[in-house]
Amino acid sequence: MSKHTNIIIANWKMNPPFLREAEGLFKAIKKNKNKLKKTQIVVCPPFVFIEKLKNLGKKSKIFLGAQDCFILENGPWTGMTSPKMIKSVGADFVILGHSKRREMGETDDVINQKIKIALKNKLNVILCIGEEGRGQEGDYFGFLEDQINIALKGIGSKFVKNILVAYEPLWAIGKGSKRVINSDELQQISIFIKKVLADKYGVKNFSHIKILYGGSVDYRNAEDLIQKGGVDGFLVGRESLVPENFNKICNIVEKTVS
Ligand code: PGA
Repeated sequence: MSKHTNIIIANWKMNPPFLREAEGLFKAIKKNKNKLKKTQIVVCPPFVFIEKLKNLGKKSKIFLGAQDCFILENGPWTGMTSPKMIKSVGADFVILGHSKRREMGETDDVINQKIKIALKNKLNVILCIGEEGRGQEGDYFGFLEDQINIALKGIGSKFVKNILVAYEPLWAIGKGSKRVINSDELQQISIFIKKVLADKYGVKNFSHIKILYGGSVDYRNAEDLIQKGGVDGFLVGRESLVPENFNKICNIVEKTVS
């Protein structure tokens, strides 16, 4: 991934219900992607659609990603999907530590192990972090720092090019979100994340790690957030299921890449 490319992740979550719909969504995104030169798109559908969409997008330069992977490479783990399998059907990315997975009990230590196994299998990792709420004291900074440091424990600087950090505050995600983040708040957080990464990997290396924002991104707030928020792109949930809106977000980001 080039240092100067912005990146937008479409996190479809457990949608759409049918393969045919997934193909329709993907085709609409692909059509618009042909016009984009400086913006990378990663579509993360449910596991079962990855291979079909990979074939559909062969010449489109859209990357495919998974929304999770198992902690181990093989074994008698009923119902699990290993990073090796994900790679073998054509995905190059995996989202790890998404708030919905954390809600189901995934800890920072488990996420750390998943990141290690995913990187070993040559997947790029989109690490999601984010606080649940904001107290008066700014204690969420320490919380985010711990999330990053535990998730990336033991992961050396040779992998920095394969890691993206997506800041997704829980209070800003999904239909029930309290409010949307503003670009000043986002800029403050992106500076903080960069500092934590610089402390860990050194100033020379940390800048390879792309920082994304996720949580109620739409075509109305995208311009302000990308211009002033200090991030390299977005992780888009709901709006990635509405191709006209998702494409608008991609076009806005494309315009702002220098
Ligand atoms: P949203 O979801 O864009 O629908 O808020 C973002 C996410 O959960 O990744």
